[in-house]
Amino acid sequence: MPSPNSECLPDTTTTLTAENAPVVVAVQSLTMVYKVGRVAVRAVDNVTFTVRQGEFVSIVGQSGSGKSTLLHILGGLLRPTSGSVLIDGQDLATVSDRQRTMIRRQKIGIVFQRFNLFPTLSAEGNLRLAESIRGTNGSDPAHRRELLRMLNLEHRLHHKPLELSGGEQQRVAVARALINRPKLLLADEPTGNLDSENSQTVLDMLRRLNQELQQTVILITHNPEAAAIGSRILTMRDGKIIADRPNSPQ
Ligand SMILES: Nc1ncnc2c1ncn2[C@@H]1O[C@H](COP(=O)(O)OP(=O)(O)OP(=O)(O)O)[C@@H](O)[C@H]1O
Ligand SMILES: [Mg+2]
Repeated sequence: MPSPNSECLPDTTTTLTAENAPVVVAVQSLTMVYKVGRVAVRAVDNVTFTVRQGEFVSIVGQSGSGKSTLLHILGGLLRPTSGSVLIDGQDLATVSDRQRTMIRRQKIGIVFQRFNLFPTLSAEGNLRLAESIRGTNGSDPAHRRELLRMLNLEHRLHHKPLELSGGEQQRVAVARALINRPKLLLADEPTGNLDSENSQTVLDMLRRLNQELQQTVILITHNPEAAAIGSRILTMRDGKIIADRPNSPQ
């Protein structure tokens, strides 16, 4: 029988949904204009959206539509021309460069098409370096083991990047991005350099990280099959979001 106070207890059987989960990303009237000589390119044009914890958002759109620019702003790598970008409540658009770097280290993990691992360090060394650079949260051996297990990397820890397949390198890059438990994982064409089998493995792992750890993910992709693993698909064109629709992940 339920106790009289059961209504006050958190309901652990309910997973967070898009409706009740905390907001991780709140973007308001975001604009980025690049100036090249006399030409101004409005790469992101007055974009507004929010992403809640546990969402998996795929961003699609033609080449040049502003996807990477938007992701670089969300990742604190680029300061927007105007608008606000709250990541876990902190506005990346108005803080100093130093503060933005701190927020990035604490709250955001980023994966790129090129894996960007340190070539002279083993997989393990790359992870340890990330822990030591970002590590105000302190290292968490149980989390590290869980990540390595989920990404199927335990047997490759002592290999250097050149001794790993492309898929393995990208999985190390994903582990590195998540080692400090960021609120937000950003991925820009993470399967762009992979063959179809390795792409599938990396996408499956992103989906599991989202479903099993409630990791919030924003994924940029040209590939409709990759986009289809998202719970929501945003479409960009000419710097604007022209469609924002829920998706049933396949
Ligand atoms: N550093 C830069 N300086 C000037 N213009 C830029 C710069 N980076 C991007 N752009 C321009 O901004 C627009 C958006 O570029 P962005 O890289 O964000 O597009 P994208 O959607 O990621 O494209 P792709 O799918 O090819 O990666 C393009 O017109 C591009 O030429
Ligand atoms: Mg791009």
